[in-house]
Amino acid sequence: MRTRIITIDGPAGAGKSTVSKLLSKELNCVYVDTGALYRGVAFEIKRQDIDWKNDAVLENFLRDIDLNFVMEKDSLILMSSGQDITNFIRIPEISMLASSSSAKPRVRAALLDIQRNIAKTKDAVFEGRDMGTIVFPDATVKFFLFADLGVRAKRRFDEMPDESKDINRVQKEMELRDGNDSQRKSAPLKPAADAIQIDSSFMTIEQVIDKMLKIIEKA
Ligand code: DC
Repeated sequence: MRTRIITIDGPAGAGKSTVSKLLSKELNCVYVDTGALYRGVAFEIKRQDIDWKNDAVLENFLRDIDLNFVMEKDSLILMSSGQDITNFIRIPEISMLASSSSAKPRVRAALLDIQRNIAKTKDAVFEGRDMGTIVFPDATVKFFLFADLGVRAKRRFDEMPDESKDINRVQKEMELRDGNDSQRKSAPLKPAADAIQIDSSFMTIEQVIDKMLKIIEKA
């Protein structure tokens, strides 16, 4: 039996996580944040002080890395060698390192099976950059969710809890990451030819979900 796979790709801050979580609830299936895997790799690179630009070193490191998700009712827990690292992967330094190290084809190859294995047995909403193009070319429905840079930066800024936050810095880092993610050679961020593109700049989360559900119903 084929599982139902919905993919949501798009740049940082387009609303992918919020939308994917809510959509998976509506569809009664699991939600997989693939960016967390790339963040997990970046976290371990930093923790183990890995010279990841050296291919031989990177290959050894990736052979030993052991990342997996534990799916709880309302949350997704990222485990690295049995340790819950979910709360350590959302800082700006890890975002940037995830963006640069994810350009390495070896890193992408190491994470491919984890993603595809989940989809073999579970209906799921997968969120990322290359879900519709590379990881799940035969997905049931593919979405590409985007929004203006200024709108995305403001959304991310509003979510940040710390007092020292600076919107210009948030926007600059986002722009840099967009550039890295969409200009890399290996699995760049781009809409699949058969993806439905949604500009969320002037839409509420509810409107986006509504639109997606209507499209999924017809698929
Ligand atoms: O979705 P996110 O912002 O948590 O992702 C962090 C970085 O990981 C992102 O800048 C690029 C990389 N990434 C990727 O290359 N492919 C994916 N499917 C998901 C994330």
